[in-house]
Amino acid sequence: MFKKMRKMLPPLRPLHWLLIVVICIVTCYWLLGVHLEQAFKPLTKIAVSSSSSLQSEYSVPADASVRVAPTLDNFDYEEQLVVLYNRVPKTGSTSFVNIAYDLCKLNKFHVLHINVTANMHVLSLPNQVMLARNITKWHKMKPALYHGHMAFLDFSKFQIAHKPIYINLVRKPLDRLVSYYYFLRYGDNYRPNLVRKKAGNKITFDECVVQKQPDCDPKNMWLQIPFFCGHAAECWEPGNDWALKQAKLNLVNEYFLVGVTEQMYEFVDLLERSLPRIFHGFREHYQNSNKSHLRVTSSKLPPSESTIQTIQRSKIWQMENDLYEFALAQFEFTKKKLMQPDNKHLQHFMYEKIRPK
Ligand SMILES: *[C@@H]1O[C@H](CO)[C@@H](O)[C@H](O)[C@H]1NC(C)=O
Ligand SMILES: *[C@@H]1O[C@H](CO)[C@@H](O)[C@H](O)[C@H]1NC(C)=O
Ligand SMILES: *[C@@H]1O[C@H](CO)[C@@H](O)[C@H](O)[C@H]1NC(C)=O
Repeated sequence: MFKKMRKMLPPLRPLHWLLIVVICIVTCYWLLGVHLEQAFKPLTKIAVSSSSSLQSEYSVPADASVRVAPTLDNFDYEEQLVVLYNRVPKTGSTSFVNIAYDLCKLNKFHVLHINVTANMHVLSLPNQVMLARNITKWHKMKPALYHGHMAFLDFSKFQIAHKPIYINLVRKPLDRLVSYYYFLRYGDNYRPNLVRKKAGNKITFDECVVQKQPDCDPKNMWLQIPFFCGHAAECWEPGNDWALKQAKLNLVNEYFLVGVTEQMYEFVDLLERSLPRIFHGFREHYQNSNKSHLRVTSSKLPPSESTIQTIQRSKIWQMENDLYEFALAQFEFTKKKLMQPDNKHLQHFMYEKIRPK
């Protein structure tokens, strides 16, 4: 039968064999190319779907070798800007957020408050996923400043390609506790008619410390560490050493900028210089508008020397203060590096020695 078939075909000369071999090689190359293309596809898709508004502008370049880079290049860092401010209570956060509410229309960005039921600082697992996806995909709101009293949430756990830019403020832990203590009793001039949880309670912070009442227990200071530490169980265990370490790591690795309440203007200044798309005009507004630093807790008595000493002996204060000092050192360093060593001129950078010409 094989001989019959051979007779039907024209006799094959060496030239024919060569042609067949060439065709085989070309086919193999083509097949391999298709496979490679498919291997690259998921990467390309991730980069595109993270900003679906850009999808229409996106065109596939012919050369496979440059297929991945241009999609990331197309990411519009200004219009896709999302800043997440997981504000710690009683750190001056309302003053800061007020500037954003005053300027959002002018600067064309959105401000959104994340209201978690019962003022809980830790999100449930389903809510973590929902929030991360929602913030990332809600393009109509971008650029956006989200703010809420919640612990640091690592978006990279949820298959999210572009994390938000994290910012925050910290305050001296005892100042924060005293402020909170009187806030619960007397409220503030921001919403003066709102009756607070402990209204009518006339005990001063000093008396509270002497009487060892729960409201001035140093454990109440365990708040800035867990806010920076995040959603792990240990974060919320007062005095946990791992939590402090994690808080510091997140502070330097995950946060774009952490300011201190005592230097609000400098915080606003650095933000305006680095992310003007949202923070343009914040500096001037902070200085000239009386509304932005209007929130002052009413009837606040400074603690006595003996109260300060008692509080500073507690391990919780020492740890919280450690984080505060750490944050302050980062902030001072960042602030200083804005200027040249002469302290008069801003630092600049440029490109040079560009080769080949
Ligand atoms: C959060 O939502 C609840 C329920 O709608 C509301 O009572 C509460 O005032 C809100 N919190 C803030 C800070 O607006
Ligand atoms: C995000 O959540 C809001 C409020 O629940 C909803 O209106 C909006 O459509 C959501 N956006 C996306 C992209 O899921
Ligand atoms: C604060 O500013 C508003 C308008 O910008 C003005 O009406 C008000 O008198 C000012 N208050 C103080 C105390 O300066």
